[in-house]
Amino acid sequence: MIQVSSPPAPAASETSAWQQRHLLDVDSLDRSAATRCLDLAVQMRDLRERGERLNALSGHVVGLAFAEPSTRTRVSFEIAASSLGADVVELPIAASSVSKGESLTDTIRTLERTGIGTIVMRHGRSGAPYLAARSAGARIVNAGDGTHAHPTQALLDALTLRDALGGLEGRSIAIVGDIGHSRVARSNLHLLTTMGATVRIAGPPAWVNAFRGWEGVSVHHRLEEALDGADAVMALRVQLERNAGGGVPTLREYTRAWGLTEKRMRHARPDAPILHPGPTNEGVELTASLAACQKSLIGLQVTNGVAVRMAVLALLAP
Ligand code: CP
Repeated sequence: MIQVSSPPAPAASETSAWQQRHLLDVDSLDRSAATRCLDLAVQMRDLRERGERLNALSGHVVGLAFAEPSTRTRVSFEIAASSLGADVVELPIAASSVSKGESLTDTIRTLERTGIGTIVMRHGRSGAPYLAARSAGARIVNAGDGTHAHPTQALLDALTLRDALGGLEGRSIAIVGDIGHSRVARSNLHLLTTMGATVRIAGPPAWVNAFRGWEGVSVHHRLEEALDGADAVMALRVQLERNAGGGVPTLREYTRAWGLTEKRMRHARPDAPILHPGPTNEGVELTASLAACQKSLIGLQVTNGVAVRMAVLALLAP
């Protein structure tokens, strides 16, 4: 049970822990479990804004094991864990005994024996957190694995969209760009459709065609078609580090065909918010002026990341 040091304490139904030990992807969450997380995140955000202390993870050690670069996710997990009263340790995977041939499984077991109770893991290989969870006594939180999943990003995106649109049921969200290499997109497709939204994905055929047949998801090869009347629009980075270059001849050609501009955004609803999980490449997937305009929620996404990660850590707490 989450303990909050001063009122208003969340209702018991909102603070009872999830049944699951790990958060590997959002496909393990039904609408009620996801809603509980988003509602708790709102309460966490309010408490933080009032500067109130929380002690839900007092005496618990959270390890941050990031084997890939990260700014937003790593820092917000660190702030989230320490805001809940946990001790936080950084686990520099590149400098660990993995470089001497120790397996991921052995590394996780070793970390557990030091008393680490929750391991937040980012890994370049899809599925690595699943392997860790199979042998782990510790709770594993997937902070992004290869091209596969990024569950806390999807949760913070859902919270940001729910706040902006007043709800997700029946809303139409356009996601544009490198869907094929994007763990963010994959988790968002699961969560947004679970929450009752429909998702239009748009991009070069090599990046979107594999998603044909997903329930609640439509695939578009013309950007304007995907944007037409959309309630919100999310742009994605072209993931050159994951061989995304195969989808388009050059970034310049990508921008010409798929980059979000003020003119193209006129196809969406006039008040449609603009999201991007970051890091953004302004001038490639969207213009710098769109990223900074009043309809841009990119900064809010980052802020919501702390509250959502607090909620996730608290809901998984022993
Ligand atoms: N959106 C996201 O995962 O950003 P970072 O890579 O900076 O954590």
